Amino acid sequence: MTNQTLREAREYEEMMEAHIAPEDRPAFHLSPRVGWMNDPNGFSYYQGEYHLFYQYHPYDSFWGPMHWGHAVSRDLLHWEYLPAALAPDMPYDKGGCFSGSAVTLSDGSHLLLYTGVRKEPQADGSFRDVQMQCIAIGDGREYEKIPENPVLTEKDLPEGGSRYDFRDPKVWLGEDGIYYCVVGNCAEDYDGQILLYSSADGIHWKYESILAKNNGRFGRMWECPDFFALDGKRVILTSPTDMLPEGFEYHNGGGTLCLIGDFDKSTKTFSEEHNQAVDYGIDFYAPQTTLTPDGRRVMIGWMQNWDTCNMRSQPKSWFGQMSLPRELSVRNGRLYQSPIREFDELRCNRVEYRNVPVNGLVRLEGVEGRQIDMELQIRPADKAKMFQKFAVRFAQDKIHHTAISFRPMESILKVDRKFSGSRRAIIHQRRSLVNHEEGELKLRVILDRLSVEVFVNDGEQVMTVTIDTPQDAKEISFFADGDVMIDVVKYDIDNSGR
Ligand code: FRU
Repeated sequence: MTNQTLREAREYEEMMEAHIAPEDRPAFHLSPRVGWMNDPNGFSYYQGEYHLFYQYHPYDSFWGPMHWGHAVSRDLLHWEYLPAALAPDMPYDKGGCFSGSAVTLSDGSHLLLYTGVRKEPQADGSFRDVQMQCIAIGDGREYEKIPENPVLTEKDLPEGGSRYDFRDPKVWLGEDGIYYCVVGNCAEDYDGQILLYSSADGIHWKYESILAKNNGRFGRMWECPDFFALDGKRVILTSPTDMLPEGFEYHNGGGTLCLIGDFDKSTKTFSEEHNQAVDYGIDFYAPQTTLTPDGRRVMIGWMQNWDTCNMRSQPKSWFGQMSLPRELSVRNGRLYQSPIREFDELRCNRVEYRNVPVNGLVRLEGVEGRQIDMELQIRPADKAKMFQKFAVRFAQDKIHHTAISFRPMESILKVDRKFSGSRRAIIHQRRSLVNHEEGELKLRVILDRLSVEVFVNDGEQVMTVTIDTPQDAKEISFFADGDVMIDVVKYDIDNSGR
């Protein structure tokens, strides 16, 4: 039975959705049905459809009492909105239905495991959020919170684990037929750790171990953990809050972290071999993965940044978008990402140029647009004479542009959205170290109405930023200080078909 809070949210979203013109949304990235969106939740393949839920506040374009929005897709590209799935309406989740995940139970039903938040009054009159894990079970459309809720509480924490930072369960069915989940937590000293739990039926859970600990290295709380096997390794993804910068790898604020290593079955702990950022741009957080029926590990992230998301240049009736779904692989101790292969089917109007010399400014006939996929190969015209800088500018008119620039002598790739239309004093640039052989670099630039995702060297790194640039700023230009040779293959993206 749908209770009133959920019913009201559903009526509201259905009514207000009509006020958002399709051309005011991203063309091929998921945005909220109305209002505010943050983390991807419950990303799963269930009964022939991909389900993507999301942290959702339908009533405002700012964060508020968390609901779960819901969308389904057959190809991970065309999404159809469904009525909101969860509303904060129970004593254990009145403070919000925070992030979580989904799995299919043995009886064929769809289980959502999420964090319920309860406001706890403090002696000084303030409130703190107590967090616990809760379940709703459904059929891909309607979900019922179960009477056993909450299923994981402070009683299930290891010694010192904080009940105020205990959230974002990621659930999966193990090869041994047992359900597992990882949950983000803080140890006494506000230091992130990931807890592992197991369950025979998906409903009754048992504490297993501290899978991994931060030990003061990467930020504080570890939000939205994910844990999976990939290419013979074990991978942890998590989004640490309050990061300090480290070289060009990690930046201040909320970040993304990928740990690659192995799982020690006897101690149920992760042994870490490599660490890296997941995304090197500004706007990427809280990614979640799922397995496709053909065995691909696909990740979607929230294309935003907590520190800047409330500093908008112009108000809109909705806010937040998801990244493109990205296929993951591990090669030589590194996480690689590429846009899901289904995306290639949206490419049309191919324009190709080979061996274009660039020194100064160059424009190429037919290379422009705001919904595009562009592959660029950059190399010095003469290897004996290294160029100083190469840049591509896009979403460009007289006033606006966003740029990606490459300085081979410093091995730095920079994305700069300073001129993208922002009227706020927020960060606009990110720099990353990149691998290149004597100035040879490969970029794939995917531009939608309000974002750009730059895949470097076949997915060795990705830089994602959102932009708020008028749609008629469509030009693309290339610039070099020195003698550069480029190959360009550019497609328009057309996702109007189904
Ligand atoms: C991450 C996060 C989660 C939490 C959710 C609340 O972006 O802070 O840790 O569950 O957002 O909306």
